[in-house]
Amino acid sequence: MKMKSEILKLLRETDGYVSGQQISGQFGVSRTAVWKVIRQLQEEGYQVEAVRNKGYHIVDSPDVMTKEELSSLINTRWAGRNILYYDVTDSTNLRIKQAGDEGAPHGTLAVADRQTAGRGRRGRTWESPAGSSIYMSILLRPKIAPNKASMLTLVMALSVAEGIRQCISQPGCPELQIKWPNDVIINGKKVVGILTEMSSQIDYINHVTVGVGINVNMIDFPEEIAQTATSLRIECGHTVKRAPLIAAVMERLEKNYETFLETEDLSGLLDRYSALLVNRDRDVQIIGAKETYRAHAIGINNTGELIVRRENGDIEKINAGEVSVRGVYGYV
Ligand code: BTN
Repeated sequence: MKMKSEILKLLRETDGYVSGQQISGQFGVSRTAVWKVIRQLQEEGYQVEAVRNKGYHIVDSPDVMTKEELSSLINTRWAGRNILYYDVTDSTNLRIKQAGDEGAPHGTLAVADRQTAGRGRRGRTWESPAGSSIYMSILLRPKIAPNKASMLTLVMALSVAEGIRQCISQPGCPELQIKWPNDVIINGKKVVGILTEMSSQIDYINHVTVGVGINVNMIDFPEEIAQTATSLRIECGHTVKRAPLIAAVMERLEKNYETFLETEDLSGLLDRYSALLVNRDRDVQIIGAKETYRAHAIGINNTGELIVRRENGDIEKINAGEVSVRGVYGYV
């Protein structure tokens, strides 16, 4: 298992050919054993060229998110180093909560190709068909006060937006934006949803699960969400491979999380987050438990609250957990 992902990594990181002898020397196995691993990779859809007297060269990879594929791509210290992969599971958030209760390390990542009970915010479900999207959840064990944990959702939103940007940098791919607090949108439609859940005591966080759903290559959406949801494929006009995208998000998250921990607030990330914030300087509807009102969104502060001006001129700070924000004429 480990050797397969290490060989994949070596093939990826080498421009030309890697000789069978080099691989067998490096891993202390026979050249026949190396050949067997290469055959397995080819059967899984990797295009690996084998040329006599030269060795092996990887030409293309399938769009899979297996443990080997992910660990050969993820270059981080902790984010996504320990991977749980499922062809099918109920919900990656549930898998990570369980792993967290059982003592799994900080940064453990669960990824599924399909979810049978994908969960969204406010008790909604999250459409999770096979083969076309990313469903992943990461386990965090921050040593911060529980009331600061909601900021992690914004840290993730920024990391996902930046990770996607890195993977779809071709000209013609439209701008990514963040709809406060944590939906990533393109052309006013949602491509990413984030669900953060915490297991804590009054003054102590046991662990936090940050779940991310990214609509990558989906082209059909159920009628209820067809007006507000989109995918990278629809907006960019080409398919996007999922594993490199997960790797890019993990790299961004590791950096952004560490910046967050330095001050335990968003001050080190605020400029980048605000630059992507779609609500800034827009009229919004604030939908709370007690009242719904119209206001003008000014921006966010260091703790991730949305600052709005009510129609009577009062300035208010809106906390992400308590309300939902819509555009005056629709979703954004
Ligand atoms: C939202 O309602 O916007 C949040 C959606 C979060 C969906 C993701 S998919 C991976 C993880 N597992 C879940 O069951 N939900 C999150």
